[in-house]
Amino acid sequence: MIDQQTIGRILDAADIVEVVSDFVSLKKRGVNYIGHCPFHNEKTPSFTVSPSKGICKCFGCGAGGNAVNFIMELENLSYPEALKYLARKYNIPIEEKELSKEEKDEKSKLESLRIITEFAGKYFNDTLLNNDEGTTIGLSYLQERGINRNTINKFQLGYCPNTGDAFTQQALKNGYNKALLVELGLTKTGQYSDFDFFKGRVIFPIHNLAGHVIAFGGRTLKATKDTAKYFNSPESPLYHKSDVLYGIYQAKKAITQENKCYLVEGYTDVTSLFQSGIENAVASSGTALTTGQIRLIKRFTQNITIIYDGDAAGIKAALKGIDLVLEQTMNVRVVLLPDGEDPDSFSKTNSHEAFRKYIEEQEKDFIHFKAELLLHEAKDDPVKRAEATRSIVESISKIPDTFIRGEFTRSTARLLKIKEEVLNQEIRQRVFNQIEKINKTQLSPVPPDNQEIRKQTQDFVDFDKAYFHEIESSLLKYLIKYPNNNLTVESDFNEVKSITCAQYLFDELMIDEINFANEIYNEMFHLAFEHFHKGNKLSIDFFINHEKPYISKAATDIIVSKYELSELFVKQNIEIIKEEDRLKTLLPNNIIIYKSRSLNKAAKEIELKLSELNDNDHWEEIIQLTSKLARIKNALKEVSLLIKRIIP
Ligand code: CTP
Ligand code: MN
Repeated sequence: MIDQQTIGRILDAADIVEVVSDFVSLKKRGVNYIGHCPFHNEKTPSFTVSPSKGICKCFGCGAGGNAVNFIMELENLSYPEALKYLARKYNIPIEEKELSKEEKDEKSKLESLRIITEFAGKYFNDTLLNNDEGTTIGLSYLQERGINRNTINKFQLGYCPNTGDAFTQQALKNGYNKALLVELGLTKTGQYSDFDFFKGRVIFPIHNLAGHVIAFGGRTLKATKDTAKYFNSPESPLYHKSDVLYGIYQAKKAITQENKCYLVEGYTDVTSLFQSGIENAVASSGTALTTGQIRLIKRFTQNITIIYDGDAAGIKAALKGIDLVLEQTMNVRVVLLPDGEDPDSFSKTNSHEAFRKYIEEQEKDFIHFKAELLLHEAKDDPVKRAEATRSIVESISKIPDTFIRGEFTRSTARLLKIKEEVLNQEIRQRVFNQIEKINKTQLSPVPPDNQEIRKQTQDFVDFDKAYFHEIESSLLKYLIKYPNNNLTVESDFNEVKSITCAQYLFDELMIDEINFANEIYNEMFHLAFEHFHKGNKLSIDFFINHEKPYISKAATDIIVSKYELSELFVKQNIEIIKEEDRLKTLLPNNIIIYKSRSLNKAAKEIELKLSELNDNDHWEEIIQLTSKLARIKNALKEVSLLIKRIIP
C-alpha cells in the first residue's frame, strides 16, 4: 500500500511527455506532441500527447489516459505497480503502509502458492528439455506433433515424470509445504503413498496476465480411452477458472496490435496457431465461455472472432458463445472450420498463407453466420424459417446498446427479407420481457439446494451487472463529452423546452434519488453535480484531469469509442449517424430504460429490507423506508408509461 501523500508526489512529478518518450519517439506539433501509437500498428502517427492536459491519446485505437494509465496499459501493470514504476523513474522513495497481521498471513500464503507454481512450471519445463525420460517420451511426443522449440519455449511447455512422486519429492526436498502442494492439486495423497497428479503427462502451464504461472493442464500420452485426455489444476486462490484464458499472456500484445482476438477451444489450438504466425489466439479450455473471460478479452480489443470445429458440437458451441459476447457489447465474428478439423489439425494441413486466407475469407459477423446457417437448415419450410428468425431475433435482443441493436435490426430485416417494422416489434417485445424477467428474478430468495435455479439467478445477476455497467457508462459518456450540448425535450406540461445535456441528466436522476450501481461512476456523477451546482462549467477536462486517478482513468475509458461499428457497417453500406446527432433521441431513451431498471432495483431492495425489520424496534426507519418506497413506486408508474413507447 502506498500512502496518499506519496501518490500525490508521484503524480506531480510524472511528466507525460517524458513518460511517453521512453517508449515512443515524439515530435512536436503545435502545442502537442505526436508519435506512432505503441498500442497498435499504424503507418501514420496518430498518438497525441498533450502536456497541458497531462494526457495522451491515440486517435486510431482510442488508447490513452494520464501517465499512470499509460504505464498501466503499456506494461500491463496494476495501479500500485505503475505508481512504483514512476516512483523509480523520478527517484521518489516509496513509503509503504504497514500491513495488518491478517493481511500479512494472507499475503504470505498467496506468495507461497505463487512460488510453488512457479517452481513446478520450471521443474516440468526442465524435465521436458533436460531429463532422459522427459526428452525420450515428452519431447519426442511434442516433436511428433510438429511443435517446435520456439513454441515450447514461448509457452513453457513441460513434462511430469511417470515415476509416482518424483516431482513431489523434489518439491519437499526444496522445502515446500505439502499441504500447499495438495491445495494446488499438484500432489495427490493416496492410501499408501503420495503421487504426482500430472505424472506421465505433457504440461501446458497456464499464465496470468502478468506472465506468472497459476495453473496447469496435463495431456496424457496414451491413446486409450481409459483416462481423461486432459487433467487440469483445481480452483485455488491463484486460479479462478472463470476469469482465465489460456494463452492470454502470450497473446495480449498481438491482440492489441491486430485489434482482434481469436477464440479457440483447446491448448494445442493456441500453440499451433501461434506456430503458424497467428499470435492473437486464446482458448476457453473446453469449458463454456464465461462473462469473466469475455471481459478479459475486452481489456485489449472489442473484436472477437470465434474459431470452432466444423462439426455439429462446434457449431452449437459457437452459437451459444455468441449471445454471451453480444451482451458485453463486442463485435463478434465467427469462422467455422471444415467438418472434422480443429485449428490444430487445419493449420498442419494448410500453409500459413492458406490458413490466414481461409480465416479472413470465412469470417462472418454473427448475423450472417447465424442467418445463413439457420436458413440453410430451414430450406423452404415456413415453420423452420420462422423458428430461425425467432432465434436470430433472440440474439439481437441481447445487445444492450439501443443504437447498435437498431443497426442490426435494419440489416437483418434486409437479409431475411422481412419488413423492418415486423422485426422491430418482435425485438421490442423480447427486450421488454428481458427487463421484466430480470426485475422479477433479481432478489427472489434461492433455495440452497437447487443448483439450476442458483445458476439461472447468477446468469441474471451477471447480465444485470453488465447491463448497468454499459448503460451507466454511456450516460456518463454524454455527461463527459457533451455537457453543454442542447437537447430539446418534452416538459411535464407537454411543452417543448431546450436544456443542456448535463442539466437534463441531473434533473432526471437526482429527482428520483437514483444512485449508479457502479461506485466509481456514482462518485463521478456526484462530483460533477457538486461542481456544476457551485456554478462552475463542466467540461471534458473536469473528468480527464481529475485529481483522483481512478476517475481520470474511468473517464478516459468511457470516452474511448466503445464499439467499432464502422468496419462492419461500411461493408454493408449502412449509414452511420454521428454520436452527437444521435444524442437527442438516445439520451432520453436511455434515461427512461435506465430509470425503470434502477427504480425497480431500489424498490426490491427496500421491500427486502422492510421484510427484515421488526415493527417495534425500527418504526422510525420503517416509516422512512415506506415513504421512500411510495415515491419510487410513483416514479415507476410514470416511467413504465413511457417505456412502452420507446423500446427499442
Ligand atoms: N479438455 C479438458 N479435459 C478433457 C478434454 C478436453 O480439459 N478431458 C479441454 C482442454 O483444454 C482441451 C480442450 O478441452 O484443450 C479441447 O479438447 P479437445 O479438442 O479434445 O483437445 P485438443 O485441445 O484438441 O487436444 P489434442 O489436440 O491434444 O487432442
Ligand atoms: Mn486437437
